[in-house]
Amino acid sequence: MILFKLASQLQQFIQQQRAQSKIVGFVPTMGALHQGHISLINKSKTQCDVTVCSIFVNPTQFNDAKDFEKYPVTIEQDIYMLEMAKCDVLFLPSVEEIYPNEIAKNKQYDLGFIETVFEGAYRPGHFNGVCMVVERLLHIVNPNQLFLGQKDYQQCIVIKRLVELMKAEIEVVICPTSREENGLAMSSRNKRLSDEMKDRAKIIYQSFNKIKKDIAANNAAELVITAKESLLQNGFDKIDYLSLANAKTLAPIALWDGNTQLVILVAAFTEGVRLIDNMVLN
Ligand code: PAF
Repeated sequence: MILFKLASQLQQFIQQQRAQSKIVGFVPTMGALHQGHISLINKSKTQCDVTVCSIFVNPTQFNDAKDFEKYPVTIEQDIYMLEMAKCDVLFLPSVEEIYPNEIAKNKQYDLGFIETVFEGAYRPGHFNGVCMVVERLLHIVNPNQLFLGQKDYQQCIVIKRLVELMKAEIEVVICPTSREENGLAMSSRNKRLSDEMKDRAKIIYQSFNKIKKDIAANNAAELVITAKESLLQNGFDKIDYLSLANAKTLAPIALWDGNTQLVILVAAFTEGVRLIDNMVLN
């Protein structure tokens, strides 16, 4: 694996690859890698000639300074995992490399409705920060394909919108959420959970599966209330949201018409850790 710390050197390398008609796949990450990330690398390797992974804990997307400070950094293990997965390139930039000046750090994106709900509502400025870093990374890496995990469902929609706004010819490939054996969605934040809670947190996946199995037009609201209760009885102490939404627009849905494609989305706290997950239901 080749490691680049400088944008200019990576750009030069990519130019050479693309001049040889190589297909470049890109997996942006904030490190603390787990099998979910590796599944994105694997997917890229099946579809692309060159796979680039970036590790950059992006300060502009943390609306909570404490969350940023607590974000796990495991760079040596990350490099080992990427080597094992035969990732071709790792981009490991400094903050200065990504945000060389104040203008780069203050760009505003018009994301419309999607920014006003769920993560957008609870983490003001978060998606703007995601767009800033992803736009910059896409300029540097100039990939043909971009691989994202469905676990960050709303982020996937936001980044698709960003790619449209950029008028970039990049295919956005959304990959299924990787889960632990008990169904807990893999996340770098799980590293901060006790073993007991890692086990109990399977309640999210179980509740989603129950909703998926039972949902009908006349019981949707009731099922959501029951799911909330189950989380609160199983070690979660605060729920930012647990809600049905239109799977395409993310407009929240209280009364389901029985037809619209639905996604269920959750953000909930346990042991001071905020977990998110989702499932497309029909
Ligand atoms: O999903 C993440 O890890 C981050 O939001 C991303 C896409 C790497 C941007 O910092």
